[in-house]
Amino acid sequence: MRIILGVTGGIAAYKAADLARSLVRDGHEVQAVLTRSAEEFVSPTTFAALTGRKVLTNLFEPSAAIEHIDLAQANDLLLVAPATANILAEFAHGLAGGFLSTLYLAFRGPVILAPAMNTNMWEHEATRANMETLRRRGHVIVEPGVGLLACGTFGAGRLAENDGILDAVRKTLNPGVRDLEGETILITAGPTQEPIDPVRFISNRSSGKMGYALAEAALDRGARVILVSGPVALDPPRGAEVVRVRTAVEMRDAVFLHLEPATAIIKCAAVADFRPAAPARQKIKKKGAPATLELEPVGDILAELGRTRGERLLVGFAAETENVLAYALRKLEEKNCDMIVANRVGGEGAGFESDTNEVLLVMRGGVVVEVPRAPKREIADRILGQMIRLRRTAGVTR
Ligand code: CTP
Repeated sequence: MRIILGVTGGIAAYKAADLARSLVRDGHEVQAVLTRSAEEFVSPTTFAALTGRKVLTNLFEPSAAIEHIDLAQANDLLLVAPATANILAEFAHGLAGGFLSTLYLAFRGPVILAPAMNTNMWEHEATRANMETLRRRGHVIVEPGVGLLACGTFGAGRLAENDGILDAVRKTLNPGVRDLEGETILITAGPTQEPIDPVRFISNRSSGKMGYALAEAALDRGARVILVSGPVALDPPRGAEVVRVRTAVEMRDAVFLHLEPATAIIKCAAVADFRPAAPARQKIKKKGAPATLELEPVGDILAELGRTRGERLLVGFAAETENVLAYALRKLEEKNCDMIVANRVGGEGAGFESDTNEVLLVMRGGVVVEVPRAPKREIADRILGQMIRLRRTAGVTR
């Protein structure tokens, strides 16, 4: 496909060089357009070398006089990364002062914008109103992440990771892409419940939302999905083959019973590590109840899968409150996984019960991808995207 990559002036402009390279690697023809302020941060020569094309920078060069119209007609997608507050304002209001904003007005195809700016500028009412206008116009916005910004403040405004931008490009160019056709993905979701007596149990805060979002995303991308689910209050996505379980032992048995057709396994469930050693057969009465509860360990399903998975891709989760990366790396190794999705739990807007999540994807081979806070469905697509990449790059074949 033919893509116009607009680069505007911000510290994050250097990241656009890598983006250009990835787009070219993915087989696209990339035409870079740098605004005047972008040139303060990066050199057109870099982009010319990476894309193999002359970089356009100024509307008023004689040869560029009608170039914006030709370009607008010849390209399939306009991607602006990073997009400054200024270019977003120009786009929102239809100003045509520079080459990129003029090109924007002449362009009729899909537009993807990846904003990056200081937190206060991002949160300013003017920027918010401009974003609203651009969203309503149907443009795809790759939300900026939260983090330490170049200006020294901490907050929203950091350019989204290139992986997220590339996923948006892929999705925009191939809506309804079915890149998991032929895969059978076994997904576990939700908590387990370990009975103490017939009415009480030990469990955890897992809502099942992440696992169900994964199931939905995998189905949309053409996979067959076997969803082994602990007790949750969610409707399973249409098309999933659902196996309902309650305890960790039931989950283990269900996983191994349905393992055979699976080409990939995602162990999203929050499985108990311990269970009451001797659950009472009758309801324990207040009077005379033991003061302590004896627990026994439950086998680790993921570790067992790590030993027996064969050629299947294996993705585990790690719910951590501290040392997220270090623990994730250890679990990746110890449980012989291809990827660990490390979940920071306990914070706001992430982990159990929340509709959003922020995770680290820790991959075999040492690659770590940080996925900033996003709806769980978006996180699910990022996980699946990385799984496909793992398959391609490391030759994990079926
Ligand atoms: N898991 C599992 N079976 C268990 C416990 C955990 O399959 N009995 C899986 C989970 O589904 C998850 C991964 O192991 O994919 C990590 O779970 P987590 O609770 O984060 O880690 P633990 O292995 O239990 O380690 P720790 O308690 O030290 O954090």
